[in-house]
Amino acid sequence: MRKVVGICLILLYLHIIVVKSLNPTLDDDVLGLIVFKADLQDPENKLSSWNEDDDSPCKWEGVKCNPRSNRVSALVLDGFGLSGKMGRGLMQLKFLSKLSLARNNLTGTIGVNIGQLTNLRVIDLSENSFSGPVPDDFFEQCGSLRSISLANNKFSGRVPDSLVSCSSLGVLNFSSNQFSGILPSGIWSLNGLRSLDVSDNLLEGEIPKEIGGLYNLREIKLRKNQFTGPVPDEIGACALLRSVDLSENSFSGSLPTTLQKLSLCDNLNFRSNLFTGEITEWIGELGRLQTVDLSKNMFSGAVPDAIGNIQSLRILNISDNGFTGSLPASMINCENIQILDASRNSLTGFIPTWVFQLGLQAVLFSENKLTGSINGAVDLSIDVSHQNLQVLDVSHNELSGEIPSDIGRFTSLRVLNMSKNSLTGGIPETVGKLKALNSLDLSENQLNGSIPSSIGTCSSLTSLILSRNNLSGQLPVSMSKLVALEHVDLSFNKLTGTLPKSLENLVHLVTFNVSHNQLQGELPAGAFFNTISPSSVSNNPTLCGAAANKSCPTVLPKPIVLNPNSTGTDPDSVPQTLGHKKILLSISALIAIGAAAVIIIGIIFITVLNLRVRSTMSRSAAAVPLSGGDFSSSHTTDTHSGKLVMFSGEPDFSTGAHALLNKDCELGRGGFGAVYRTVLGDGRSVAIKKLTVSSLVKSQEDFEREVKKLGKINHPNLVSLEGYYWTPSLQLLIYEYVSGGNLYRHLHESTTQDENIVNNRSSLTWNERFNIILGIAKSLAHLHHLNIIHYNLKSSNVLIDGLGEPKVADFGLARLLPMLDRYVLSSKIQSALGYMAPEFACKTVKITDKCDVYGFGVLVLEIITGKRPVEYMEDDVVILCDMVRGAVEEGRVDECIDERLQGKFPAEEVIPVVKLGLICTSQVPSNRPDMAEVINILGLIKCPESQEEYDNN
Ligand SMILES: *[C@@H]1O[C@H](CO)[C@@H](O)[C@H](O)[C@H]1NC(C)=O
Ligand SMILES: *[C@@H]1O[C@H](CO)[C@@H](O)[C@H](O)[C@H]1NC(C)=O
Ligand SMILES: *[C@@H]1O[C@H](CO)[C@@H](O)[C@H](O)[C@H]1NC(C)=O
Ligand SMILES: *[C@@H]1O[C@H](CO)[C@@H](O)[C@H](O)[C@H]1NC(C)=O
Ligand SMILES: *[C@@H]1O[C@H](CO)[C@@H](O)[C@H](O)[C@H]1NC(C)=O
Repeated sequence: MRKVVGICLILLYLHIIVVKSLNPTLDDDVLGLIVFKADLQDPENKLSSWNEDDDSPCKWEGVKCNPRSNRVSALVLDGFGLSGKMGRGLMQLKFLSKLSLARNNLTGTIGVNIGQLTNLRVIDLSENSFSGPVPDDFFEQCGSLRSISLANNKFSGRVPDSLVSCSSLGVLNFSSNQFSGILPSGIWSLNGLRSLDVSDNLLEGEIPKEIGGLYNLREIKLRKNQFTGPVPDEIGACALLRSVDLSENSFSGSLPTTLQKLSLCDNLNFRSNLFTGEITEWIGELGRLQTVDLSKNMFSGAVPDAIGNIQSLRILNISDNGFTGSLPASMINCENIQILDASRNSLTGFIPTWVFQLGLQAVLFSENKLTGSINGAVDLSIDVSHQNLQVLDVSHNELSGEIPSDIGRFTSLRVLNMSKNSLTGGIPETVGKLKALNSLDLSENQLNGSIPSSIGTCSSLTSLILSRNNLSGQLPVSMSKLVALEHVDLSFNKLTGTLPKSLENLVHLVTFNVSHNQLQGELPAGAFFNTISPSSVSNNPTLCGAAANKSCPTVLPKPIVLNPNSTGTDPDSVPQTLGHKKILLSISALIAIGAAAVIIIGIIFITVLNLRVRSTMSRSAAAVPLSGGDFSSSHTTDTHSGKLVMFSGEPDFSTGAHALLNKDCELGRGGFGAVYRTVLGDGRSVAIKKLTVSSLVKSQEDFEREVKKLGKINHPNLVSLEGYYWTPSLQLLIYEYVSGGNLYRHLHESTTQDENIVNNRSSLTWNERFNIILGIAKSLAHLHHLNIIHYNLKSSNVLIDGLGEPKVADFGLARLLPMLDRYVLSSKIQSALGYMAPEFACKTVKITDKCDVYGFGVLVLEIITGKRPVEYMEDDVVILCDMVRGAVEEGRVDECIDERLQGKFPAEEVIPVVKLGLICTSQVPSNRPDMAEVINILGLIKCPESQEEYDNN
């Protein structure tokens, strides 16, 4: 490519030379400029007027000619957007005196030695991307050069010694490059030099005493290099110096008193060096000084009185030094002072009153040892009505007393920092007048009282820091008007009350710390507060919400607890306390639980989320709306004309049905009747359920139809119905006999003496429990698939067979009731205390198979905790779901696991199952998963590897 370009250039040369020989009027300048242009890219077409067919280039854009000679004298292409290299075409411009290519995108090294253009007076290549070293001989013929700027490029290497040849040089600007090494000593003998700027390079070495020879020097900038050594006394000979910037180097020693001779000097910048010693009265001689920056050095001693002589002083920065004493009172004469930064010194005494009297813009005294009150200083300032104070930082001193209410008169204040003092009293109401206030920091004082509600009018506030005081009372609601707020720290106070809900308006918040107060109630809503870090709200005993790791007690509705002593005949005994509204309110709590679960097993959460999308209503089975029926009990005697049906074929009741129902063989009693065990003729045991309340049973046809349906249900986890016996006054259901007793006894009455307990173990292992949970889930899923709602789930209805498999009993019996409504259901299953879903009490919520999911959830918690769904203590009722939910939210799940399992369960299985149980007991039915999904979730939770480890305990 390069070769091609090179060949093209040669061809171009040849072409031009041929043309030139044909047309002798064409001058060298056209040739030079066309060749120069050929090396450039000109995306903005700025050089379109440069046409090789022109006789003269004098009218070309950026080209100036000497009117007498018609030769090109100036090429000024600043900001033309040119890129490419600076080519040797320029060497043809023998009469060029000004070359300015500033602010382009030129790259590469300076290949051609434009230094040989002996007429050049000005070279400006600043703000390009030139790189590499400047050729050693670059300046060899630069006798006429007045000004050179290579600033803001990527030049590197040493500044060439040939620079000494530029004897007429007045302006040298090599700033913002990567020049390194020491400056050529010849530079200090260029006594025409008026401006020397080599700032922002990698230069080193000392300032030699030869600097005194630069008697024309007006400006010297050595900022941001690696210069060392002291400032030589001889600098005082540069009597025309107006600006001295030696900042950000490693100069050391004390400043020479000869500086006092620089009487024209208006800018002294010694910032960030290693200077030591005192600033003495000499500084007062510099009567034109406007800016003095002595910051970040090791100056010591007092600021001299003479500084008060400098009336022109506008900015004084003495921060980060070791100045002591107090600022001289003479400074009241510095009428033009605008900015005073004395931060981080060891100044003592009071805040000088003149800082308020002179109308400064910025007063910074942080980290000194100032004492006394601010009040005193402000009070004495007679006329502060035309204040322009924008920044007042007196933080980290030893100030005492109160914040003056006159502070409200500084209406231009943007920054007010009084933190880390011993200020007392309250925050004055007048802060509300500080409409421009951007940052208010009053932290670490002893302020008391409440945050004035006038703060709401400081509409520019972005930072409000009031931490570590004794502030009390409520957070003013008006704070929510401060929509620009980004940082709020009110921690370590005694604030009380609730956080205003409207704080959610503060959409720009980045931090909001109210920890260590006495706040209560719910956190505001919104994206910020939902994800606020817990440490920002911690240590508020009653502040609640997900981020506070504390659920809001008023929000969580209680599950229904029916009075176990109720007779069930009074419809009013069904609690109506759970209104629809409360159920809706609990959604946030549900989401919180869902979110907690995601941490353990994300899959559960996703599954549950999927559930919520589905409509559960379509699967409702038997929610017939009814006004309460009349269920008076009518007892009739046995008619002996009964019908016995065994689904398996041969009815084999050799004995009469009455004899079967022997009291001694009673297995238990449920909502629908008593259950007896009997042995059939073939030696097989069956369980016979005698339905108690006959009037609740439908007609014989209805009864038989429903029972036959139930008889067809065949599932390993359901107790199968083997037959029935019907007379108008007596109905029996004949079930398979399950030998292992019911789950209730296993969980709550288990002893080693009990012969019915599986394998004679003292208690169920985790794997047995998990298996029971899974079995119950499967049975319910099967029932729900057949559109049968169990309605009566409880641990005493779960039988355990000889192999430890659970078998759910008593299903489908609600279908035998002539009418099905809430009241009937809840009175029939009243014994199922604590298992009943809340929607039974809520007339507006349809009852679906989700009520079984609720009961299942309670069962899960019961199986894992070994506790009854509702435990009556001496003077307390403990509701299992609440107890577990509370424990999960406080991260104490372990504590509620059955103690018989302690140390013998895999937490990674048990905890997700607990959470699954909680999700199943969601107050809102549609938030509960369906049983098929429960089975999937259980499958995901169970890790096959842990099977053996926890099986044999
Ligand atoms: C310089 O070039 C860069 C990319 O090469 C471009 O983004 C930038 O705008 C150019 N600058 C000027 C001043 O043309
Ligand atoms: C040197 O050049 C830079 C960049 O063009 C400019 O900002 C700076 O002011 C110049 N220095 C002096 C002393 O003029
Ligand atoms: C004073 O100097 C310090 C350190 O150089 C700097 O951080 C600070 O911004 C300066 N103060 C003012 C008001 O400009
Ligand atoms: C107030 O001053 C202190 C100490 O000087 C400093 O730590 C704090 O950041 C300042 N506050 C603000 C809001 O800038
Ligand atoms: C039920 O009745 C018994 C006996 O009268 C009493 O001790 C118990 O506290 C009652 N339970 C409730 C929940 O009212």
